[in-house]
Amino acid sequence: MLDVSLIRKQFPIFSTVNDAGKPLVYLDNAATTQKPWVVLESLSNYYRTLNANIHRGIYDLADKSTKAYEQSRGKVAQFLKVEHLEEIIFCRGTTEAINMVAHGWGMDHLNPGDEVLVTAMEHHANFVPWQVACEYSGAKFKVLPLNSDGSLNLESLKEALTPHTRMLAVTHISNTLGCINPIQEIVKIAHNNGTLVMVDGAQSVSFQELNLQDLDCDFFAFSGHKIFGPMGVGVLYGKRELLQEMSPYQQGGSMIYQVGEQKTTYKAPPHRFEAGTPPVADAVALGTALDFVNGIGLASIKDHHIQLRNYAWERLTTTDHVQLLGSPNQSAGIISFNVENIHAHDVATILGEAGIAVRAGHHCTQPLMDHLGISGTVRVSFSIYNDFNEVDQLIDALVTTRKIMA
Ligand code: ALA
Repeated sequence: MLDVSLIRKQFPIFSTVNDAGKPLVYLDNAATTQKPWVVLESLSNYYRTLNANIHRGIYDLADKSTKAYEQSRGKVAQFLKVEHLEEIIFCRGTTEAINMVAHGWGMDHLNPGDEVLVTAMEHHANFVPWQVACEYSGAKFKVLPLNSDGSLNLESLKEALTPHTRMLAVTHISNTLGCINPIQEIVKIAHNNGTLVMVDGAQSVSFQELNLQDLDCDFFAFSGHKIFGPMGVGVLYGKRELLQEMSPYQQGGSMIYQVGEQKTTYKAPPHRFEAGTPPVADAVALGTALDFVNGIGLASIKDHHIQLRNYAWERLTTTDHVQLLGSPNQSAGIISFNVENIHAHDVATILGEAGIAVRAGHHCTQPLMDHLGISGTVRVSFSIYNDFNEVDQLIDALVTTRKIMA
């Protein structure tokens, strides 16, 4: 296990209490992670000492600001182990990254008769943009059914791919059930079929080491705020040859090469995809967040998540009236469950009063809820500052919830 008490000291939020005076037990890390001092200081330092618009000014401050932003792009490239720096595009987050591909790539490549395949476990962010791209282009939108426990079935995937499937959109780790999809294998299957793969990495980026060259996916998206960085910045990775011929999703300043009355030409990637003033401070602070994560080490972080998840799964299994969802195997630090005869929102409300922050509802995965035949779940999701004692507090609070609501 990581030294949790040492880690917690680096996160100011843990000195706060809720309205009932209870200290924070934060188990909603799949929604967003808390921010360490170094990230907060990086943000503040940027605005105090570096603030100037990038790629425009030719004075000293603008130059330093541009360098800090581009240095952060380099950190992301190293973190994801990509081949080329220009394969890293800064954007607002996973949602915007996927929309950039669904609309930018989809606009040029999807036609009537083509198919886009998404899985039934996708977050709405990797589902709806593809549905809309299909509506616009006349391509067919197909949803891959899942096993009864909500996991992906590779045989079904092979059967669902046809010679017309242009794109497969798949999450690396389910934000609701925590199941880890074998992306490398999935990409091989898709590529053998001539199908490109868009991976939603929102949950995997802070869970395991990533090497996008090994995964060989065509596009990969993540949000900075899921990995201790600020909200409002995220990353789209795309293979260089795909980005070079991809249309930009937004047009505006800084992404053009030449604007004429009749015709405009665009810059090369990544700048073609970064129209307007980007979230410079947030991108710089994301680089700091990645340094912070590297300092701890993703192997230790993954081990920590798995230990907490296994302990919580075991304790929840032996807690009366708790129904666990998903599979005990191949899972990240995310667990969904329901408490018999108590609405998930009521469970989350009572836990919240005890200072325990969890998410309840459909988790932006309504197709998955339909597949499981439920309307929502209670979800706990772990991070580096959680420990076994917090899992015990969760179990005690669930027992109390039953007593209050029974
Ligand atoms: N995608 C985030 C979640 O699963 C917001 O909670």
